[in-house]
Amino acid sequence: MSYQVAVLAGDGIGPEVMAQARRVLAAVETKFSIDIEYQEYDVGGIAIDNHGCPLPPETLAGCEKSDAILFGSVGGPKWEGLPPNDQPERGALLPLRGHFELFCNLRPATLHPGLEHLSPLRADISGRGFDVLVVRELTGGIYFGKPKGREGEGDQEFAYDTMRYSRFEIERIARNAFTAAKGRRGKVTSVDKANVLASSVLWREVVEEVAKDFPEVELEHIYIDNATMQLLKRPDDFDVMLCSNLFGDIISDECAMLTGSMGLLPSASTNASGFGLYEPAGGSAPDIAGMGIANPVAQILSASMMLRHSLNQAEAADCIDAAVSKALSNGYLTGELIGPNSDQQARNTAEMGDIIVQYINE
Ligand code: NAD
Ligand code: IPM
Ligand code: MN
Repeated sequence: MSYQVAVLAGDGIGPEVMAQARRVLAAVETKFSIDIEYQEYDVGGIAIDNHGCPLPPETLAGCEKSDAILFGSVGGPKWEGLPPNDQPERGALLPLRGHFELFCNLRPATLHPGLEHLSPLRADISGRGFDVLVVRELTGGIYFGKPKGREGEGDQEFAYDTMRYSRFEIERIARNAFTAAKGRRGKVTSVDKANVLASSVLWREVVEEVAKDFPEVELEHIYIDNATMQLLKRPDDFDVMLCSNLFGDIISDECAMLTGSMGLLPSASTNASGFGLYEPAGGSAPDIAGMGIANPVAQILSASMMLRHSLNQAEAADCIDAAVSKALSNGYLTGELIGPNSDQQARNTAEMGDIIVQYINE
Protein backbone atom coordinates (compact mmCIF):
# COMPACT_ATOMS: atom_id res chain seq x y z
CA MET A 1 0.00 0.00 0.00
CA SER A 2 1.43 3.39 -0.86
CA TYR A 3 0.24 6.78 0.33
CA GLN A 4 0.57 10.37 -0.84
CA VAL A 5 1.08 13.12 1.71
CA ALA A 6 1.05 16.85 0.97
CA VAL A 7 3.65 18.62 3.13
CA LEU A 8 2.89 22.28 3.88
CA ALA A 9 5.64 23.45 6.25
CA GLY A 10 4.71 27.13 6.11
CA ASP A 11 6.39 29.89 8.10
CA GLY A 12 8.51 30.59 11.18
CA ILE A 13 9.44 27.41 13.03
CA GLY A 14 7.23 25.38 10.63
CA PRO A 15 10.06 24.22 8.32
CA GLU A 16 12.42 23.61 11.29
CA VAL A 17 10.08 21.24 13.12
CA MET A 18 8.78 19.71 9.88
CA ALA A 19 12.34 18.58 9.00
CA GLN A 20 12.44 16.51 12.20
CA ALA A 21 8.96 15.06 11.60
CA ARG A 22 10.10 13.96 8.13
CA ARG A 23 13.16 12.18 9.62
CA VAL A 24 10.94 10.41 12.14
CA LEU A 25 8.48 9.39 9.42
CA ALA A 26 11.35 8.05 7.30
CA ALA A 27 12.48 5.92 10.25
CA VAL A 28 9.06 4.30 10.77
CA GLU A 29 8.55 3.87 7.03
CA THR A 30 11.69 1.70 6.93
CA LYS A 31 10.88 -0.12 10.14
CA PHE A 32 7.28 -0.97 9.19
CA SER A 33 7.69 -1.13 5.38
CA ILE A 34 5.31 1.75 4.72
CA ASP A 35 5.52 3.54 1.39
CA ILE A 36 4.73 7.25 1.60
CA GLU A 37 5.32 9.70 -1.22
CA TYR A 38 5.67 13.33 -0.15
CA GLN A 39 5.01 16.47 -2.18
CA GLU A 40 5.96 19.83 -0.69
CA TYR A 41 3.87 22.94 -1.32
CA ASP A 42 4.14 26.56 -0.26
CA VAL A 43 1.47 27.86 2.11
CA GLY A 44 0.97 31.01 4.18
CA GLY A 45 3.54 33.80 4.22
CA ILE A 46 6.08 31.93 2.12
CA ALA A 47 3.37 31.41 -0.53
CA ILE A 48 2.55 35.13 -0.46
CA ASP A 49 6.24 35.87 -1.03
CA ASN A 50 6.68 33.25 -3.79
CA HIS A 51 3.28 33.27 -5.54
CA GLY A 52 1.43 36.39 -4.38
CA CYS A 53 -1.28 34.54 -2.40
CA PRO A 54 -1.35 32.46 0.81
CA LEU A 55 -3.10 29.41 -0.71
CA PRO A 56 -1.95 29.03 -4.33
CA PRO A 57 -4.14 26.84 -6.61
CA GLU A 58 -1.32 24.29 -7.01
CA THR A 59 -1.13 23.88 -3.21
CA LEU A 60 -4.87 23.24 -2.97
CA ALA A 61 -4.75 20.85 -5.95
CA GLY A 62 -1.83 19.00 -4.33
CA CYS A 63 -3.81 18.60 -1.10
CA GLU A 64 -6.82 17.34 -3.05
CA LYS A 65 -4.90 14.50 -4.64
CA SER A 66 -3.26 13.44 -1.35
CA ASP A 67 -4.35 11.02 1.39
CA ALA A 68 -3.48 13.52 4.12
CA ILE A 69 -1.96 16.96 4.73
CA LEU A 70 0.97 17.40 7.09
CA PHE A 71 0.95 21.07 8.06
CA GLY A 72 3.53 23.16 9.95
CA SER A 73 2.36 26.64 10.89
CA VAL A 74 1.63 29.90 9.13
CA GLY A 75 1.81 33.59 9.89
CA GLY A 76 4.22 36.11 11.31
CA PRO A 77 4.89 39.82 11.70
CA LYS A 78 5.97 40.20 8.06
CA TRP A 79 2.41 39.61 6.77
CA GLU A 80 0.38 41.21 9.59
CA GLY A 81 -0.05 44.49 7.68
CA LEU A 82 -1.88 42.86 4.76
CA PRO A 83 -5.67 43.09 4.39
CA PRO A 84 -7.17 40.48 6.80
CA ASN A 85 -8.35 38.01 4.17
CA ASP A 86 -4.97 38.06 2.40
CA GLN A 87 -3.05 37.11 5.55
CA PRO A 88 -1.68 33.58 6.05
CA GLU A 89 -4.15 32.50 8.75
CA ARG A 90 -7.39 33.75 7.20
CA GLY A 91 -6.21 33.30 3.62
CA ALA A 92 -4.79 29.78 3.87
CA LEU A 93 -5.36 27.84 7.09
CA LEU A 94 -9.05 28.65 7.60
CA PRO A 95 -9.90 28.13 3.88
CA LEU A 96 -8.15 24.73 3.99
CA ARG A 97 -10.19 23.73 7.05
CA GLY A 98 -13.37 24.95 5.35
CA HIS A 99 -12.63 23.48 1.91
CA PHE A 100 -12.09 19.95 3.21
CA GLU A 101 -14.80 20.34 5.91
CA LEU A 102 -12.32 19.40 8.63
CA PHE A 103 -14.89 19.92 11.38
CA CYS A 104 -13.40 17.57 13.96
CA ASN A 105 -10.25 18.83 15.66
CA LEU A 106 -8.62 16.52 18.21
CA ARG A 107 -5.99 17.96 20.54
CA PRO A 108 -4.64 15.44 23.05
CA ALA A 109 -2.81 17.05 25.99
CA THR A 110 -1.05 14.61 28.29
CA LEU A 111 1.26 15.26 31.19
CA HIS A 112 3.53 12.23 30.86
CA PRO A 113 4.00 10.33 34.11
CA GLY A 114 7.36 11.35 35.53
CA LEU A 115 7.22 14.72 33.79
CA GLU A 116 4.89 16.41 36.29
CA HIS A 117 7.67 18.89 37.10
CA LEU A 118 7.31 20.35 33.56
CA SER A 119 3.84 21.64 34.39
CA PRO A 120 3.58 25.19 35.71
CA LEU A 121 0.98 23.88 38.18
CA ARG A 122 1.80 23.37 41.86
CA ALA A 123 3.29 19.91 42.48
CA ASP A 124 0.36 18.71 44.61
CA ILE A 125 -1.99 19.46 41.69
CA SER A 126 0.15 18.30 38.74
CA GLY A 127 1.06 15.18 40.72
CA ARG A 128 -2.52 13.96 40.33
CA GLY A 129 -1.97 13.74 36.56
CA PHE A 130 -3.47 15.37 33.51
CA ASP A 131 -4.74 13.67 30.36
CA VAL A 132 -7.29 15.64 28.36
CA LEU A 133 -8.55 15.31 24.82
CA VAL A 134 -9.89 18.62 23.53
CA VAL A 135 -12.50 17.95 20.84
CA ARG A 136 -12.88 21.26 19.07
CA GLU A 137 -15.48 22.10 16.43
CA LEU A 138 -13.37 23.58 13.62
CA THR A 139 -15.47 24.73 10.68
CA GLY A 140 -18.32 26.66 12.30
CA GLY A 141 -19.05 29.11 15.09
CA ILE A 142 -17.70 32.63 15.23
CA TYR A 143 -14.76 31.78 12.94
CA PHE A 144 -16.98 31.08 9.93
CA GLY A 145 -20.38 32.64 10.80
CA LYS A 146 -21.80 35.20 8.38
CA PRO A 147 -22.22 38.14 8.38
CA LYS A 148 -18.75 39.19 9.34
CA GLY A 149 -17.30 42.55 8.45
CA ARG A 150 -16.46 46.13 9.06
CA GLU A 151 -18.49 49.17 8.11
CA GLY A 152 -18.92 52.87 8.72
CA GLU A 153 -16.45 55.65 9.35
CA GLY A 154 -14.83 57.64 12.11
CA ASP A 155 -16.10 56.95 15.59
CA GLN A 156 -19.20 55.37 14.03
CA GLU A 157 -17.08 52.66 12.42
CA PHE A 158 -17.99 49.18 13.64
CA ALA A 159 -17.00 45.56 13.08
CA TYR A 160 -18.90 42.35 13.71
CA ASP A 161 -18.65 38.56 13.74
CA THR A 162 -21.47 36.04 13.96
CA MET A 163 -21.41 33.14 16.38
CA ARG A 164 -23.74 30.66 14.74
CA TYR A 165 -24.23 26.91 15.11
CA SER A 166 -26.70 24.56 13.48
CA ARG A 167 -28.08 21.42 15.13
CA PHE A 168 -26.27 19.40 12.46
CA GLU A 169 -22.89 20.95 13.26
CA ILE A 170 -23.27 20.50 17.02
CA GLU A 171 -24.53 16.96 16.73
CA ARG A 172 -21.68 15.67 14.55
CA ILE A 173 -18.91 17.11 16.76
CA ALA A 174 -20.70 15.93 19.92
CA ARG A 175 -20.90 12.36 18.54
CA ASN A 176 -17.15 12.43 17.96
CA ALA A 177 -16.55 13.60 21.53
CA PHE A 178 -18.77 10.91 23.09
CA THR A 179 -17.24 8.20 20.90
CA ALA A 180 -13.75 9.32 21.94
CA ALA A 181 -14.78 9.34 25.63
CA LYS A 182 -16.02 5.73 25.36
CA GLY A 183 -12.47 4.68 24.48
CA ARG A 184 -10.98 6.76 27.31
CA ARG A 185 -12.19 7.43 30.87
CA GLY A 186 -15.84 7.85 29.90
CA LYS A 187 -16.48 11.52 30.65
CA VAL A 188 -17.39 14.47 28.43
CA THR A 189 -17.22 18.03 29.71
CA SER A 190 -19.07 20.32 27.31
CA VAL A 191 -17.78 23.89 27.42
CA ASP A 192 -20.17 26.73 26.60
CA LYS A 193 -21.52 30.13 27.63
CA ALA A 194 -25.19 29.16 27.85
CA ASN A 195 -25.85 31.86 30.46
CA VAL A 196 -25.28 34.51 27.75
CA LEU A 197 -25.13 33.13 24.20
CA ALA A 198 -28.08 31.78 22.17
CA SER A 199 -25.73 29.52 20.20
CA SER A 200 -24.60 27.98 23.49
CA VAL A 201 -28.18 27.30 24.60
CA LEU A 202 -28.72 25.28 21.42
CA TRP A 203 -25.27 23.67 21.89
CA ARG A 204 -26.25 22.45 25.37
CA GLU A 205 -29.62 21.13 24.18
CA VAL A 206 -28.14 19.15 21.29
CA VAL A 207 -25.28 17.78 23.44
CA GLU A 208 -27.90 16.54 25.95
CA GLU A 209 -29.75 14.76 23.13
CA VAL A 210 -26.60 13.10 21.79
CA ALA A 211 -25.69 12.01 25.34
CA LYS A 212 -28.78 9.78 25.43
CA ASP A 213 -27.13 7.53 22.83
CA PHE A 214 -24.08 7.13 25.11
CA PRO A 215 -25.49 6.11 28.52
CA GLU A 216 -22.08 4.77 29.61
CA VAL A 217 -20.49 8.23 29.22
CA GLU A 218 -20.87 10.82 31.98
CA LEU A 219 -21.72 14.34 30.77
CA GLU A 220 -21.09 17.62 32.57
CA HIS A 221 -21.62 21.16 31.30
CA ILE A 222 -19.32 23.99 32.26
CA TYR A 223 -19.13 27.67 31.36
CA ILE A 224 -15.97 28.69 29.49
CA ASP A 225 -14.82 31.15 32.15
CA ASN A 226 -15.20 28.57 34.91
CA ALA A 227 -13.54 25.92 32.70
CA THR A 228 -10.32 27.92 32.37
CA MET A 229 -10.21 28.19 36.16
CA GLN A 230 -11.19 24.61 37.02
CA LEU A 231 -8.48 23.35 34.66
CA LEU A 232 -5.92 24.96 36.95
CA LYS A 233 -7.57 23.72 40.12
CA ARG A 234 -8.61 20.14 39.30
CA PRO A 235 -7.06 19.26 35.91
CA ASP A 236 -7.26 15.51 36.65
CA ASP A 237 -11.10 15.70 36.70
CA PHE A 238 -11.28 16.30 32.94
CA ASP A 239 -11.24 13.65 30.24
CA VAL A 240 -12.81 14.82 26.95
CA MET A 241 -13.53 18.55 26.66
CA LEU A 242 -16.08 19.25 23.94
CA CYS A 243 -15.73 22.81 22.69
CA SER A 244 -16.96 25.17 20.01
CA ASN A 245 -14.39 26.65 17.64
CA LEU A 246 -13.37 29.72 19.69
CA PHE A 247 -13.61 28.12 23.14
CA GLY A 248 -11.59 25.12 21.92
CA ASP A 249 -8.90 27.44 20.57
CA ILE A 250 -8.53 29.02 24.01
CA ILE A 251 -8.85 25.84 26.08
CA SER A 252 -6.30 23.96 23.96
CA ASP A 253 -3.55 26.54 24.50
CA GLU A 254 -4.21 26.33 28.23
CA CYS A 255 -4.11 22.51 28.14
CA ALA A 256 -0.85 22.60 26.16
CA MET A 257 0.79 24.81 28.75
CA LEU A 258 -0.44 22.59 31.61
CA THR A 259 1.67 19.81 30.07
CA GLY A 260 4.70 22.10 29.96
CA SER A 261 4.75 23.80 26.57
CA MET A 262 2.86 24.79 23.44
CA GLY A 263 5.48 22.77 21.59
CA LEU A 264 4.10 19.46 22.91
CA LEU A 265 0.51 19.62 21.63
CA PRO A 266 -0.29 17.93 18.30
CA SER A 267 -3.60 18.05 16.48
CA ALA A 268 -5.69 16.20 13.93
CA SER A 269 -8.40 17.95 11.92
CA THR A 270 -10.53 15.42 10.11
CA ASN A 271 -13.68 15.32 8.03
CA ALA A 272 -16.48 12.75 7.79
CA SER A 273 -14.48 10.54 5.41
CA GLY A 274 -11.32 10.37 7.56
CA PHE A 275 -9.26 12.75 5.42
CA GLY A 276 -7.23 15.01 7.64
CA LEU A 277 -4.84 17.88 8.15
CA TYR A 278 -2.28 17.31 10.91
CA GLU A 279 -0.53 20.22 12.59
CA PRO A 280 0.87 21.40 15.91
CA ALA A 281 -1.71 23.33 17.92
CA GLY A 282 0.80 26.16 18.36
CA GLY A 283 1.89 28.69 15.80
CA SER A 284 4.93 29.87 13.89
CA ALA A 285 6.59 31.17 17.10
CA PRO A 286 8.28 34.22 15.52
CA ASP A 287 10.13 34.90 18.79
CA ILE A 288 12.29 31.76 18.33
CA ALA A 289 12.05 31.13 14.57
CA GLY A 290 15.38 30.59 12.79
CA MET A 291 17.22 29.74 16.00
CA GLY A 292 16.96 25.95 15.70
CA ILE A 293 15.62 25.64 19.25
CA ALA A 294 11.90 25.04 18.67
CA ASN A 295 10.39 21.91 20.18
CA PRO A 296 9.61 19.51 17.32
CA VAL A 297 7.51 17.15 19.48
CA ALA A 298 4.11 18.63 18.54
CA GLN A 299 4.95 18.28 14.84
CA ILE A 300 6.28 14.74 15.32
CA LEU A 301 3.19 13.69 17.28
CA SER A 302 1.01 15.29 14.57
CA ALA A 303 2.75 13.00 12.05
CA SER A 304 1.92 10.09 14.36
CA MET A 305 -1.75 11.16 14.45
CA MET A 306 -1.69 11.25 10.63
CA LEU A 307 -0.40 7.67 10.51
CA ARG A 308 -3.10 6.57 12.96
CA HIS A 309 -6.15 8.46 11.72
CA SER A 310 -5.69 8.85 7.95
CA LEU A 311 -3.15 6.18 6.89
CA ASN A 312 -4.32 3.32 9.12
CA GLN A 313 -0.79 2.66 10.45
CA ALA A 314 -1.43 2.36 14.19
CA GLU A 315 1.67 0.29 14.87
CA ALA A 316 3.98 2.94 13.40
CA ALA A 317 2.07 5.63 15.31
CA ASP A 318 2.47 3.71 18.58
CA CYS A 319 6.19 3.39 17.87
CA ILE A 320 6.58 7.17 17.40
CA ASP A 321 4.55 7.93 20.54
CA ALA A 322 6.67 5.52 22.59
CA ALA A 323 9.94 7.00 21.25
CA VAL A 324 8.77 10.54 22.09
CA SER A 325 7.73 9.51 25.63
CA LYS A 326 11.06 7.79 26.16
CA ALA A 327 13.02 10.83 24.96
CA LEU A 328 11.09 13.14 27.30
CA SER A 329 11.29 10.77 30.29
CA ASN A 330 15.04 10.38 29.75
CA GLY A 331 15.43 14.14 30.10
CA TYR A 332 15.76 15.13 26.43
CA LEU A 333 14.03 18.52 26.62
CA THR A 334 14.09 21.70 24.58
CA GLY A 335 14.90 24.98 26.28
CA GLU A 336 11.35 26.27 26.78
CA LEU A 337 10.57 23.22 28.94
CA ILE A 338 13.61 23.64 31.13
CA GLY A 339 13.51 27.36 31.81
CA PRO A 340 16.37 29.85 31.96
CA ASN A 341 17.51 29.12 35.51
CA SER A 342 18.07 25.40 35.23
CA ASP A 343 21.46 23.74 34.93
CA GLN A 344 19.88 20.90 32.94
CA GLN A 345 21.10 20.65 29.34
CA ALA A 346 18.68 22.03 26.74
CA ARG A 347 18.51 20.09 23.46
CA ASN A 348 17.99 21.83 20.16
CA THR A 349 15.42 20.93 17.48
CA ALA A 350 17.73 18.56 15.57
CA GLU A 351 18.98 16.83 18.74
CA MET A 352 15.38 16.03 19.68
CA GLY A 353 14.92 14.51 16.20
CA ASP A 354 18.19 12.53 16.62
CA ILE A 355 17.17 10.87 19.86
CA ILE A 356 13.61 10.09 18.74
CA VAL A 357 14.90 8.50 15.51
CA GLN A 358 17.47 6.55 17.55
CA TYR A 359 14.76 5.18 19.88
CA ILE A 360 12.61 4.19 16.88
CA ASN A 361 15.52 2.25 15.40
CA GLU A 362 16.38 0.40 18.61
P1 NAD B 1 2.62 30.73 18.97
O1 NAD B 1 1.96 29.43 19.30
O2 NAD B 1 3.34 30.80 17.67
O3 NAD B 1 3.64 31.11 20.13
C1 NAD B 1 3.23 31.28 21.48
C2 NAD B 1 4.44 31.01 22.40
O4 NAD B 1 4.69 29.61 22.41
C3 NAD B 1 5.72 31.67 21.93
O5 NAD B 1 6.46 32.11 23.04
C4 NAD B 1 6.45 30.56 21.20
O6 NAD B 1 7.85 30.69 21.21
C5 NAD B 1 6.00 29.34 22.01
N1 NAD B 1 6.01 28.14 21.16
C6 NAD B 1 5.09 27.78 20.24
N2 NAD B 1 5.44 26.65 19.63
C7 NAD B 1 6.63 26.29 20.17
C8 NAD B 1 7.53 25.22 19.95
N3 NAD B 1 7.26 24.27 19.03
N4 NAD B 1 8.66 25.15 20.68
C9 NAD B 1 8.92 26.08 21.61
N5 NAD B 1 8.12 27.13 21.87
C10 NAD B 1 6.99 27.22 21.16
O7 NAD B 1 1.48 31.84 19.06
P2 NAD B 1 1.50 33.41 18.67
O8 NAD B 1 2.79 34.01 19.09
O9 NAD B 1 0.24 33.95 19.19
O10 NAD B 1 1.40 33.42 17.10
C11 NAD B 1 2.50 33.57 16.21
C12 NAD B 1 2.02 33.47 14.76
O11 NAD B 1 1.58 32.12 14.51
C13 NAD B 1 0.82 34.36 14.45
O12 NAD B 1 0.98 34.83 13.14
C14 NAD B 1 -0.36 33.41 14.55
O13 NAD B 1 -1.48 33.81 13.82
C15 NAD B 1 0.24 32.16 14.00
N6 NAD B 1 -0.41 30.91 14.42
C16 NAD B 1 -0.49 29.94 13.47
C17 NAD B 1 -1.02 28.72 13.79
C18 NAD B 1 -1.08 27.68 12.75
O14 NAD B 1 -0.52 27.83 11.68
N7 NAD B 1 -1.74 26.57 12.98
C19 NAD B 1 -1.45 28.46 15.11
C20 NAD B 1 -1.34 29.49 16.06
C21 NAD B 1 -0.81 30.71 15.72
C1 IPM C 1 -4.99 27.24 16.03
C2 IPM C 1 -4.64 28.64 15.60
C3 IPM C 1 -5.60 29.11 14.51
C4 IPM C 1 -7.00 29.10 15.10
C5 IPM C 1 -5.30 30.48 13.89
C6 IPM C 1 -3.88 30.59 13.42
C7 IPM C 1 -6.24 30.78 12.78
O1 IPM C 1 -4.64 29.50 16.68
O2 IPM C 1 -4.96 26.33 15.17
O3 IPM C 1 -5.27 27.04 17.21
O4 IPM C 1 -7.42 30.08 15.76
O5 IPM C 1 -7.71 28.11 14.90
MN1 MN D 1 -4.90 28.53 18.60
